[in-house]
Amino acid sequence: MATGSSASRRSPRSRRPAVTVLRVGHRAGRDPRLSTHLALAARAFGAERMLLHPPDPDLARRVAAVAEGWGGTFEVLPAPEWRRVVREFDGPVVHLTMYGLPLARVRSRLARAERILLVAGGAKVPSELYRLATFNVAVGHQPHSEVAATAVFLAELLGLPPPGRWPGARRAVVPTARGKRVVGGRERA
Ligand SMILES: C[S@@+](CC[C@H](N)C(=O)[O-])C[C@H]1O[C@@H](n2cnc3c(N)ncnc32)[C@H](O)[C@@H]1O
Repeated sequence: MATGSSASRRSPRSRRPAVTVLRVGHRAGRDPRLSTHLALAARAFGAERMLLHPPDPDLARRVAAVAEGWGGTFEVLPAPEWRRVVREFDGPVVHLTMYGLPLARVRSRLARAERILLVAGGAKVPSELYRLATFNVAVGHQPHSEVAATAVFLAELLGLPPPGRWPGARRAVVPTARGKRVVGGRERA
């Protein structure tokens, strides 16, 4: 159970939207680190899972290995048909794009949702996504990255992740002013 002052300022977990990240435009073999970092950022900042299009079992395995050591229930699942995922999602679909509405304009409406599908694009985004999304949302109106946009969006919506060991974790960081301290395992992710 997470503890700490930032945890006490947050709403109970049950009152926060459950966020599923949908990554479209993954290029297996070309940018495995970027999609891996997207999954790790999504996990660390409180998303429940990431759906990956096109599917990439190697990436899913790499993220599962991290989650096994550091706890939680986050997983990467295949999304062979992203349009179907978007059309059938039971909640607001938020497409992250520099062209969208400022996050501040939609944040309070999204905070009341039970579940959100957060769509993060790649180098090229299918144009129909702009039409299919409930909200096209910008995290600033400058071009940057799907990892940055996802992390900032989640931090704004769910709050910063509190310190502490995650449920089921074999290891956890012991915060220190200098050096690296980890309980229960090697001193690296
Ligand atoms: C390399 S960028 C492509 C930039 C693209 N022109 C766009 O529509 O944002 C890859 C992804 O990063 C995300 N992204 C980049 N800048 C963003 C911003 N300012 N706000 C929200 N999302 C952003 C979007 O999900 C985008 O599909």
